[in-house]
Amino acid sequence: MSDSNLPRIARTRAEIAAWREEMSRAGKRIGFVPTMGALHDGHLSLVKLALQQADVVAASIFVNPAQFAPNEDFDTYPRAEDSDLQKLASAGCSLAYCPTPNEIYPPGDRTRVLVTEMSHILEGAFRPHFFEGVATVVSRLFVHVRPDVAVFGEKDYQQLQILRRMTKDLGFSTEVLGGQTVRESDGLAMSSRNAYLSAQEREQASAIYKALSAAKAAIESGTPIKYALDKAHEALNAAGFRSIDYIAACDAFTLEAFEDEKAPLDRDGRLLLAAWMGTTRLIDNLAFRREAQKF
Ligand code: PAJ
Repeated sequence: MSDSNLPRIARTRAEIAAWREEMSRAGKRIGFVPTMGALHDGHLSLVKLALQQADVVAASIFVNPAQFAPNEDFDTYPRAEDSDLQKLASAGCSLAYCPTPNEIYPPGDRTRVLVTEMSHILEGAFRPHFFEGVATVVSRLFVHVRPDVAVFGEKDYQQLQILRRMTKDLGFSTEVLGGQTVRESDGLAMSSRNAYLSAQEREQASAIYKALSAAKAAIESGTPIKYALDKAHEALNAAGFRSIDYIAACDAFTLEAFEDEKAPLDRDGRLLLAAWMGTTRLIDNLAFRREAQKF
């Protein structure tokens, strides 16, 4: 693909503001897909969804230091700007915002955005600063890009719910949409971190989707939640998962764990899990709902 087919690149706030101004003058509705790069079909599905809701779509590529703990993989996180730009072009993205850290975190920066309570459960219990880093960077990206609609993946379900809350609470005029999780043919959710898996681990990792699907079917047919989650735990251990940080059945909006023996009737629920395959931490989730009229 020739360079002329690549999206326009903005590396500074001034450059993105100039593009935004041009788009406003042309009366365009702006879609936005924030990413950390190393793009796969999951990311590109969000660009395509954004294009259905907007006239032009911008994506950002920024490996956000504020959401990595010192012991996490910030330095080794895969970076592939050239091929990312080509993929964005082929998905129909018009602009890539690739800011330097100083554009997002100006020298002397002290301000953070925290969505309370929801940020400290599930993922947040294991990665205490993670969602603060995410909410902080996304709020700044929203200020820089001023999108009409922003799309995030259900793959990171807790992140999506926290960002919906943040957008409401801070009064951004951006509409937040969720895009379905794109999976490999064996059910493993696509993730930039799947690249860390060995061939054998990659095969074993498909147990996550199988375990979640089995738990969903069991809970929907009235099996006690604890029993269904214990079974999922056992299946993951048997498939070679080293440890399971959490596996929970939660209210789909507040993310509070369902406390009763059986899932409540006619309420949207979400199974969420994080588990370690070797040295790689994988997360996934699945919707469930126990329908009253069926049972
Ligand atoms: P990243 O992991 O690069 O993901 C960017 C977006 O792609 C997120 O909204 C994520 O949920 C979505 N995504 C990832 N895998 C997906 C899949 N298999 N199917 C559908 N969507 C998928 O999430 C982040 O970056 C960062 O936290 C970010 C929001 C950019 C803030 O730094």
